[in-house]
Amino acid sequence: MKKIVVLTGAGISAESGLKTFRDSDGLWEGYNIEDVATPEAWARDPELVQEFYNERRRSLLQAEPNAAHYALASLQDKYEVHIITQNIDDLHERAGSENVVHLHGVITRSQSSVNPKLTYPIDGWEIKMGETCELGSQLRAHVVWFGEAVPMIEPAAALCSQADIFILVGTSLAVYPAAGLINYVPRTVTKYIIDPNIPTVANRSIIEMPYKATIGVPMVVEELLAAE
Ligand code: APR
Repeated sequence: MKKIVVLTGAGISAESGLKTFRDSDGLWEGYNIEDVATPEAWARDPELVQEFYNERRRSLLQAEPNAAHYALASLQDKYEVHIITQNIDDLHERAGSENVVHLHGVITRSQSSVNPKLTYPIDGWEIKMGETCELGSQLRAHVVWFGEAVPMIEPAAALCSQADIFILVGTSLAVYPAAGLINYVPRTVTKYIIDPNIPTVANRSIIEMPYKATIGVPMVVEELLAAE
């Protein structure tokens, strides 16, 4: 079976009603990254940080996967598919994708604030202040903040280097190390880029699809499912 590796960003979930980060009406517009998505912010004002992610989780519970998430899951009928997502939502899993690497964590789980390896499922939308891990430390969202290590980057890079086909969807490629992953994909491997604003990449064999995810992803998937 040929191996398809897909790297997704906030744009794939935009049409599910979840805001991207850097579009004009994006999430960061209302927030300073430094106030809500760094270890320093958590040290300074944990209630604010907790509330920010509780709100994100509440929106996510009301959201549904869209045609792009479902189309990617349908590729599994014919290919070995690995999704690498920068998103902290669980919409790929809910659409049926089986192999999902969350580079930046997933908001439906909580995490010990002293040991990032200790993570737990969350019942409902809220982590309350006072809820602790097994070591007695406050629980926080299981997400990777700016300035924290990205433990899944090495397995993700290994997947990219083994891809037979690569698909990039809905990411501005503004944040490293995720943005560097495309450099691990061999130059001769076909790379589809689906985004109304195609990001600049230094690689070859690029097919640009300047469409929204719910239009562009099903188009590419249909082509790949029809291929020999
Ligand atoms: N379909 C496809 N792409 C879209 C759509 C859509 N309907 N709407 C917007 N986009 C594209 C934008 O053109 C942009 O290129 O999605 C991209 C969103 O970019 P960002 O907001 O920068 O999101 P992302 O690339 O996922 O951010 C990376 O940055 O803030 C951190 O940790 C956060 O994981 C996030 C990382």
